[in-house]
Amino acid sequence: MTESTIQTTAATAALCDDFRSMMSGFPTGVAVIAAEDLDGTPWGMTCSSVCSVALDPPTLLVCLRDGSPTLQAVLASGEFTVNLLHEDAQGVAELFASGDPERFRVTPWERTADGAGPHLPRDAHTIADCTVALTQRMGDHVTVYGRVRDIRRPSGRPPLLYGLRQFAAWPAT
Ligand SMILES: Cc1cc2nc3c(=O)[nH]c(=O)nc-3n(C[C@H](O)[C@H](O)[C@H](O)COP(=O)(O)O)c2cc1C
Repeated sequence: MTESTIQTTAATAALCDDFRSMMSGFPTGVAVIAAEDLDGTPWGMTCSSVCSVALDPPTLLVCLRDGSPTLQAVLASGEFTVNLLHEDAQGVAELFASGDPERFRVTPWERTADGAGPHLPRDAHTIADCTVALTQRMGDHVTVYGRVRDIRRPSGRPPLLYGLRQFAAWPAT
């Protein structure tokens, strides 16, 4: 795993607020990024910064808050799971954004026979197992590039969406 650090200078609070507001106008899907630490304790956080990077080999990136225990578990294990949430999983998205230490006790999760996970099969429409390929520290976040090893689809349900600071369901056709 390679790591690089990009030097940055602090921005004004007003510009940071304006940037948040700008990005709220760019709707996304919603994922729970999850990993187990070296003790086998599961960690996970709600994340909208999931982006496709390359098709061959299949690679994606996620941007995780520096200091997040989920990020620590991802870096320690060198692996993580992307749980793409379906439209009925708003409660899970809110729980995994809350920092609640009980989040994995009240949410069904599992690991695969070959040790991948944590998977949230009740709440995800698609689950991708990734190996960390590269990390890049930028300002208050760390970008983690993940090589996708395996993709599962627990359900064909439409994705949960997030934009304008609210959750939404995929429009009915
Ligand atoms: C819809 C939504 C998307 C989010 N996306 C991100 C994200 O891409 N990166 C991030 O660091 N935090 C994101 N957050 C905030 C984290 O979920 C929140 O800070 C959480 O408590 C972090 O978990 P931790 O305890 O592992 O740090 C998002 C929150 C919501 C509600």
